[in-house]
Amino acid sequence: MIHIRKKYSLLSHNTFGISATADTFVVSDNMNELRDTLRTAAMPVLVLGGGSNLLFVSDTCPLVVHPALKGIELTGEDSETVLVRACSGEVWDDLVTWSIARNYSGLENLSLIPGNVGACPVQNIGAYGAEAQDVIESVETLHIADGKQQPFSKQECRFGYRDSFFKQNRGKYLIVSVTFRLSKTFVPNLAYSGLKSMLPNGNISMATVREAVVKMRRQKLPDHPLLGNAGSFFKNPAVSSQQAEALKSEYPALPLYTAAGGLNKLSAAWLIEQCGWKGKRNKQGNVGAYDRQPLILVNYGGASGKEVLDFASEIIRSVEEKFGVRMEPEVNMI
Ligand code: EPU
Repeated sequence: MIHIRKKYSLLSHNTFGISATADTFVVSDNMNELRDTLRTAAMPVLVLGGGSNLLFVSDTCPLVVHPALKGIELTGEDSETVLVRACSGEVWDDLVTWSIARNYSGLENLSLIPGNVGACPVQNIGAYGAEAQDVIESVETLHIADGKQQPFSKQECRFGYRDSFFKQNRGKYLIVSVTFRLSKTFVPNLAYSGLKSMLPNGNISMATVREAVVKMRRQKLPDHPLLGNAGSFFKNPAVSSQQAEALKSEYPALPLYTAAGGLNKLSAAWLIEQCGWKGKRNKQGNVGAYDRQPLILVNYGGASGKEVLDFASEIIRSVEEKFGVRMEPEVNMI
């Protein structure tokens, strides 16, 4: 069923709680309807999923398409794994609980991440030692320009840290469904240092890992219906080992992590905190760096996208001035 609305408020469609209006807003739970919409649409089209990783910096969007495709099904299995196809309009955490209830392992560390399934390959969502790319097998899309179906293998998705082919080609693909390869036996992933200590002794199961992750997220991350935010606003910056060593000798407490390509990842939260931003707000008092995790910018009420962006720019400037490291936003600016 398709619904077309004019001059539609996007306030309840973004977890930052920013006011913006769609000239035309199309929602459908049917792939043929979505395809027909794309075939005849004037560009640009904004495909809006759960709205949990974006910031509206302009007040209006010409055309917003909201795919409400639903369904989770088993599409294959071998002796060790199953293939699970989830439609893009499913709520991410519903898929996580669905898989845990059936003893399929691989998603438990990604518990409680806000948003819909369709966003997971775009952002290559990640948390607590796991990333979506660890379990994604393939992605089915519609090419926005002509509505044609286009499948992507995992390799074709070109996943990176909070990055993918889809993120690099924003506005070109609508994600229809994602197929995951999950394990029939529990494979604990306790790579994230804080996770093990959260687990009750000797009781490591998919359910207890989920519980621990949920607890950590609730402690550190603001709940968006209560406090508008889009999770981590910035990426953790990657620097050369030379630059990392130089910084480490000047700031011995600097947390360092290894990253792909021989680079070192710095903790953006730490850099921001060192610059004094933790718990601070802008002059108007409606935007701030969250007091429990300063990597998260929050809308204390009535902030515009521009105000959030201005505050983020100030943080980027001060971190660059102090550490010579330029942070990049993780959130998509619309
Ligand atoms: N830290 C501080 N001060 C703080 C909080 C953290 O200095 O107030 C430093 C500490 O050194 C800490 C380090 O930051 O050891 C890492 O903190 P945390 O484990 O919270 O992870 P993060 O790097 O800040 C990333 C993801 C989160 C994900 C967590 C947990 C990015 C951009 N963010 O944050 O993902 O939940 O790891 O795995 O990679 C998101 O992407 O929206 C998101 C919330």
